[in-house]
Amino acid sequence: MSSSNGPRSLRLVFLFGIVLASKVLSCPPNCTCQYLEVNCTGKQLQEYPLTIPLDTRQLILAANNISYLPSVELNFLTDLVYLDCRENHIGEDLGFTFISVVKLVYLDLSANNLTRVTFTSFSQLTNLVVLKLSDNPNLVEIEKDSFANNSWLRHLDVSRTGLTFLDTSTVSDLPNLKSLGLSGNPWNCSCSFLEFSIWIKESGLNFPDAENISCYSPSELRGWPVPDVETQLHYICLTHLYQWDYIFLGLVGFCIFSAGTLAAWLAGICAVLYEFHTATGEDDADEDEEEEPRWQVSSLRTSPWPTSLQREM
Ligand SMILES: *[C@@H]1O[C@H](CO)[C@@H](O)[C@H](O)[C@H]1NC(C)=O
Ligand SMILES: *[C@@H]1O[C@H](CO)[C@@H](O)[C@H](O)[C@H]1NC(C)=O
Ligand SMILES: *[C@@H]1O[C@H](CO)[C@@H](O)[C@H](O)[C@H]1NC(C)=O
Ligand SMILES: *[C@@H]1O[C@H](CO)[C@@H](O)[C@H](O)[C@H]1NC(C)=O
Ligand SMILES: *[C@@H]1O[C@H](CO)[C@@H](O)[C@H](O)[C@H]1NC(C)=O
Ligand SMILES: *[C@@H]1O[C@H](CO)[C@@H](O)[C@H](O)[C@H]1NC(C)=O
Ligand SMILES: *[C@@H]1O[C@H](CO)[C@@H](O)[C@H](O)[C@H]1NC(C)=O
Repeated sequence: MSSSNGPRSLRLVFLFGIVLASKVLSCPPNCTCQYLEVNCTGKQLQEYPLTIPLDTRQLILAANNISYLPSVELNFLTDLVYLDCRENHIGEDLGFTFISVVKLVYLDLSANNLTRVTFTSFSQLTNLVVLKLSDNPNLVEIEKDSFANNSWLRHLDVSRTGLTFLDTSTVSDLPNLKSLGLSGNPWNCSCSFLEFSIWIKESGLNFPDAENISCYSPSELRGWPVPDVETQLHYICLTHLYQWDYIFLGLVGFCIFSAGTLAAWLAGICAVLYEFHTATGEDDADEDEEEEPRWQVSSLRTSPWPTSLQREM
């Protein structure tokens, strides 16, 4: 009995596996599936399609109404290299969205509803080369060093978002970065922006649409192109330092002046004393030997004088 039971349950598991696999591996309704590529562009999808073949390399979900990427289902696609989610309503934190899709090279999340990017958003995507985050009007923060693990990143686009500030090291530490989209953002050109504006000038990267990288605040710099604002910021932000420099220089000058005065005063006293002693020494030479004890005391006090040496010899 048990010998026939075993193979039957095995067969059941096998059948169940085939059914499950055929269900999982079927092309999502209304999408077009070619070899390792699933294209669901503009299909009015409200949700991420759950029947995407597991060996998919290229997944295009562009121009739908998807508001959420389910982490578990997405991370079944461990061979995924190319993911295009532009023009959707994705607005979640992304904290644990991309965990096992470590082969991802191209990720397009432009024209969505992202609000912030943190280190955990993309920290597992160590092969990422292209990352598009443009046209996310509610994206107001990219945390410092959010891309620290994405060292292969070549093209990063954060144009037309709500970003007012970007920490310089977040992008300057990317060794392979070639192109960085920064245009159309309401940059806050305060003094903390100075370092970033200097880096933009000196980095030698390609900044697409560079004319439209401009300051939005403070109001006196509104509309200024960021590459040109560096001189202005230098002037505004470093004048404060100059005041301290002037005070410092004044103090140093005063110290030098006082030291000089003191030295001159001491030199004057020495000169007077020397004059006085040479004068008295000459007087002593003319005087009798009765005055000897008084002279010895004074010669002890001022031993280096040649006259006293002569006298003692
Ligand atoms: C597929 O497209 C047809 C026509 O465009 C539409 O009526 C249907 O609801 C779509 N199916 C799904 C699952 O989106
Ligand atoms: C995906 O499909 C859309 C139309 O449905 C087409 O315009 C687009 O070129 C396709 N993309 C790819 C990469 O095949
Ligand atoms: C999808 O989003 C677009 C733009 O936000 C909207 O006009 C459209 O009605 C939405 N479609 C559905 C089926 O929700
Ligand atoms: C975008 O996200 C904000 C909150 O983060 C929400 O209020 C808004 O409705 C979202 N917009 C869309 C189009 O999903
Ligand atoms: C990402 O960086 C963290 C800390 O810097 C490190 O512990 C982790 O292993 C990195 N992840 C990958 C996949 O390299
Ligand atoms: C710009 O930055 C400065 C200093 O960091 C801050 O005080 C100010 O509130 C910011 N302005 C805007 C509009 O974010
Ligand atoms: C700069 O932005 C304006 C308004 O958004 C746009 O009309 C113009 O084409 C942009 N310039 C470039 C070079 O793209």
